Amino acid sequence: MSDNTTNTTCACRRSFLKTAVATGIGVAAVGTPICAGTRVVLFSAMQEGRAGKFYPLAAADSLTDKPQKFSIVDDKQDAWTTLPNQKIGSLYLRKSGEQIVAVHSLCPHAGCMIQAGVKKNPQTGSEEEIFYCPCHSAHFDLNGKRLDTVSPRDLDALETKVENGKVLVKFENFAFGIAEKRNG
Ligand code: FES
Repeated sequence: MSDNTTNTTCACRRSFLKTAVATGIGVAAVGTPICAGTRVVLFSAMQEGRAGKFYPLAAADSLTDKPQKFSIVDDKQDAWTTLPNQKIGSLYLRKSGEQIVAVHSLCPHAGCMIQAGVKKNPQTGSEEEIFYCPCHSAHFDLNGKRLDTVSPRDLDALETKVENGKVLVKFENFAFGIAEKRNG
């Protein structure tokens, strides 16, 4: 009797284990594509963020040839959470003749924050208003052109457009430390 009971119990356990293993495999088989799908969607969403969007920043007639710094505020999103109204970056905006010039405020060398100010231009030796980076002393003119070879490329120019007298700038981020300007 006790053997039968033991055998029945063993059979039940085996059956349970078989079911559990089979169910587990089923869940794993179904779960993998779901996880992979979710990753793809999230990655696409992050890529969209990287690709940039236009932000209205200033009245076109308020700009001068002096660089003005603007912060970009938007919802910040990672894989799990969205934090509303966070500073996601900054840029400098100015007028050069009739042209509007926007450059990213992060140095393409290694990503430090550039500054605008009167400094010695390494090409002319004269003191003038330029962009410079406090980290490894890269210098750029006010249009973002390199004045030395510390940075592998010019400052990252950002696309601008004017709508109803307002300047909109397409804000996006670029990879550091490489000559090619590409999203990063
Ligand atoms: S990060 Fe700007 S010079 Fe190195």
